[in-house]
Amino acid sequence: MNQSTPEPTSYYERHIFFCLNERKNGEDCCAQHKAQEGFERCKLQIKEAGLSGKGHVRVNKAGCLDRCAAGPVAVVYPEAVWYTFVDAADIDEIVESHLKNGKVVDRLVVPDHLGR
Ligand code: FES
Repeated sequence: MNQSTPEPTSYYERHIFFCLNERKNGEDCCAQHKAQEGFERCKLQIKEAGLSGKGHVRVNKAGCLDRCAAGPVAVVYPEAVWYTFVDAADIDEIVESHLKNGKVVDRLVVPDHLGR
C-alpha cells in the first residue's frame, strides 16, 4: 500500500505575534512604545469580530523579535509581514485590512533594513 504524507494545513488562517518585550535595564524596547495596548486592542477586535479560533485568526504575545529599531512590532503569518504601529487606529487598520481581508497595510510595514 502506497500512503502519501498528507499536506500540512494551517490551523489558523493568520497568526499575528506582538513583541511585548520589556528591558529592565532601561534600554529601548517595544514595551516602552505601547506594545501591550496594541496587543490588547488587536485581541479584542478579533474577538468582537468573531474571528478567533481554528481556521481564523490567532493573536499571540512574543518576546523580543529582534527588530527593536522599528518597535513596537508585530508580524503576521503566513505572509510574514512585519508591522509597526503608533495608536489604536493603526491596529484597527491592520485588523480590518490584513487580518480580515488579506490586504497588506503598506504604510505600516517595517522597512527591511530595520533590525535590532
Ligand atoms: S524589543 Fe521588540 S523586537 Fe526587540
